[in-house]
Formats: sequence, C-alpha cells, structure tokens
Amino acid sequence: MIVLKTTRELSLMKEACVIAAGALKAAGEAVEPGVSTAEIDRIALDFIKKSGAIPTFKGYNGYPAAACVSINDEVIHGIPNKKRIIRAGDIVSIDVGATFNGYVGDNAATFAAGDISPEAQRLCDVTRESLYEGIKAAVAGGRIGDIGSTIQRYCEERGFSVVRDFTGHGVGKQMHEDPSVPNFGTPGRGVRLLPGMTIAIEPMINQGGAGIRQLPDGWTIKTRDGSLSAHFEHTVAITTNGPVILTKI
Ligand code: MF3
Ligand code: CO
Repeated sequence: MIVLKTTRELSLMKEACVIAAGALKAAGEAVEPGVSTAEIDRIALDFIKKSGAIPTFKGYNGYPAAACVSINDEVIHGIPNKKRIIRAGDIVSIDVGATFNGYVGDNAATFAAGDISPEAQRLCDVTRESLYEGIKAAVAGGRIGDIGSTIQRYCEERGFSVVRDFTGHGVGKQMHEDPSVPNFGTPGRGVRLLPGMTIAIEPMINQGGAGIRQLPDGWTIKTRDGSLSAHFEHTVAITTNGPVILTKI
C-alpha cells in the first residue's frame, strides 16, 4: 500500500531527513585513512542522538549499527567493525537513517579516502549523477519505470552496471514502504507517481558485472566479480512543484 503524505506530514518528515543528511555529512567528513568503520558509525550515531532522533537501522531485522559502511567491492550493508580500517585509495559507502517526528529519513553516499584512482572517481561521479538524473524523472504523472530506466541508461551508457537484487523504496513512517523503486526499468511502466509520494532513490552501481553475493555475516553484500561499487541515496518527495530532495541540508 502506498501512503501519500500531506504537506504538513512532509514538513514533519523533512526534519527527519535533515537529521539523516547531517549524520551522513558528519560521517562522510570523518572518512580518511586509518579510521575504522566503527568510528564512522559512532559519528553517525552521535549526530542522530544529539539531534533527538532514533537511529532507524539499529535493530532493523537485527541489524547491529546506526550506519552501513561498505568499502570498495562491498556494495551495501557493510557492518561497522573497530578492526576494519579504512585505507588510502578506498571508496567508502555510508548509508544512514534517522527517525524523528515518527518519520524516517534515509540517505547514502560514497566518499573517497585519500587519493583514489581515476576509475574509482569516475564510478562515484557517475553513480551520484545517475541519482540526480533519476530524481529529475520523479515527477507526478510519470511512472516508477521512468526513474529506473533513466538511472540504468545513464550508468550503462558509461560502462557501468546496475545491481538488480536491491532497489530503492517508498519511505515514510516505515523505512520500507511501497512502492519498490528499481534502478532499472522501462519508461512509462510501473506504478504511477503521485503528489505526496515519498521514495528513497538509491542507485547501487558496479564497475564490473551486476552480480552480487552476500557474505556469511548475513548482511554484507559484495560484487560477485570483486569490482568496485558505489551507492548514493536521497529521500525524495513527489509534489505538484516537482521532485523535492528531503535529505538535502
Ligand atoms: N538504507 C537501507 C535501505 O535503503 C537500509 C539499511 S538496512 C539496515 O534499504 F538493516 F541496515 F537497516
Ligand atoms: Co534506502
């Protein structure tokens, strides 16, 4: 069931999204060689707590942390660990959610640790740009397939592949609401986009093949071929005035 939000509800949700964005910014600024992924999580958690919000991910299906921190060939859902140290040249994807006013804000970005290769930089740039292209396609009267097909085309034209096994999602009082928001698809197909819909658009883009595998920890998703992967996510409201990025500070 898709839950449409009123303007009043969107302004309550905006506050949750701004906190999630602040947590992501603070965590991202801490990415540098020598820092552990647990320290990144701690910074995100501290920001959420001092904002009076709840770390959405903690306890979600048993997830143990406030943030997911995924390095290089880890696509998503990397579990923070004090023994996992970020090294120069790594790309570090951070995904963090905050619950405030009863609403969830969900966002992610990939950050560079020290100097990274031109190939890694290109992957991050294209993934970020594909998110903004997808957001532009999130207009009332359009369809979910307009978003995914835009992201897919943008990334595949540039030689990258779209992870199929995970998608974006509706977001509101729950972190995961209907509809599913794939990063691939066909223009004009899928659920109709309506004012008041709030969705998390989150391209997960691989340098090599689209295949993934899950590690025995039950969470971490890696590329099957060991190639790099990047991930950017915003929570977006569809309005009569066009898409509004709620997780923008
Ligand atoms: N932000 C992720 C998503 O968009 C959720 C993280 S899974 C969790 O679906 F278990 F860590 F919460
Ligand atoms: Co999400």
